[in-house]
Amino acid sequence: MVIIITGTPGTGKTTLAKKIAKEKCYTHIDVNKIIDREKLSEGYDKLRKSKIIDTKKLNKSLIKLIKENKNIVIDSHLSHYLPKKYVDSCIVTKCSLKTLEKRLKKRKYSKSKIRENLDAEIFDTCKVEAEENGHKIKVVWTDKKN
Ligand SMILES: Nc1ncnc2c1ncn2[C@@H]1O[C@H](COP(=O)(O)OP(=O)(O)OP(=O)(O)O)[C@@H](O)[C@H]1O
Ligand SMILES: [Mg+2]
Repeated sequence: MVIIITGTPGTGKTTLAKKIAKEKCYTHIDVNKIIDREKLSEGYDKLRKSKIIDTKKLNKSLIKLIKENKNIVIDSHLSHYLPKKYVDSCIVTKCSLKTLEKRLKKRKYSKSKIRENLDAEIFDTCKVEAEENGHKIKVVWTDKKN
């Protein structure tokens, strides 16, 4: 079983992924860690304050992990770029804009980065892209503990 969890940064992917992995004894893959470990970052976008990732290279690494692990939860706002044939279920985490702003402020994100992420949540970027990629989607709201 391959579950991917996508969603705007701060909407609760890692929290949910850890919970599912613990409950079902699945392997939790925090893609941020893979990016660092396998040096998949191709530089830094200073303006956007984010790493530049080649999703083709990332997919290659993730597909390898999928082949090595029977049951896996992949946690990343880039996970929905995986081709549909490798994925059984795609969860999109969402929360209210108020909650998201509060969480990102707590992380001390810059004003522009908070704005960018709020916009991504308003436009439902991850969900729209995941649907465009053919994934079957389940939305999980994370405003309150669930
Ligand atoms: N269901 C929930 N109920 C209450 N708080 C939550 C819930 N899910 C997440 N949070 C809180 O929101 C914050 C962000 O959560 P988390 O780190 O899981 O987000 P993320 O989507 O993995 O972010 P990133 O994309 O940056 O890795 C954390 O402080 C966490 O405690
Ligand atoms: Mg996370």
